[in-house]
Amino acid sequence: PLSITPDSQSTFKAIKIMNQNELKRLVAQKAIEYVPHNTIIGVGTGSTADLFIDELALIKDKIIGAIASSERTKQRLEGHGIQVFDVNEVESVPVYIDGADEIDTEGNMIKGGGAAHTREKICASIAEQFICIADASKEVNILGTFPLPVEVVPLAREAVARQLSDLGGRPVWRKHADGTPLITDNGCHILDVHGLSINEPLALEIQLSIIPGVLTVGIFAQNAADIALIATAEGVKTIS
Ligand code: 5RP
Repeated sequence: PLSITPDSQSTFKAIKIMNQNELKRLVAQKAIEYVPHNTIIGVGTGSTADLFIDELALIKDKIIGAIASSERTKQRLEGHGIQVFDVNEVESVPVYIDGADEIDTEGNMIKGGGAAHTREKICASIAEQFICIADASKEVNILGTFPLPVEVVPLAREAVARQLSDLGGRPVWRKHADGTPLITDNGCHILDVHGLSINEPLALEIQLSIIPGVLTVGIFAQNAADIALIATAEGVKTIS
């Protein structure tokens, strides 16, 4: 089991009235402590990552730059004047800092709610440490309540969906509110798989990853979080 260290600087009075967005900002601020100076770091995607980028901008002169896990993140980083490097230019990064849709007690995660999990997994794979930043609503005992995002090559979408159904899932093709298909940064589609209870995250990640046409599965077990910073009503707790 992982050990939990409460943040000694947190005060119940200050945090009790925080909404989810404020909790996300709190954990984004905390994550700055984990940014090594004079390095290139990895930056995730999503509303929590956006807030982290805004905090990173305040110390941008202390880092060399960043690799970005999505076009959205790249634009936000560059908008703040932070240099963005192509992942091909970088052998490794000391930290990759990103949110999650769910995280379990072992640091396994579901990601991809923002459709960015392929590039997120690539960035995580070259990071020495994955630091997950999340509010407490993301903590679970067993992954799978959040529908599992699976990025697929478009022509394989229905074939992959049939295989996911055979495994007991209910895949739903992700579309925009106007009914048009969501296209990822990689030109692919997303299936959100409902109804999976993921008791063995690593085994399922491997099993789904080898289905022909699957680009990336949103289970992060092979690249689980090394450190999770979780914002709660009592403050930020550190799980490592
Ligand atoms: C994007 C992701 C995000 O990390 C995840 O969806 C959490 O997002 P948010 O910080 O907005 O709650 O995996 O693909």
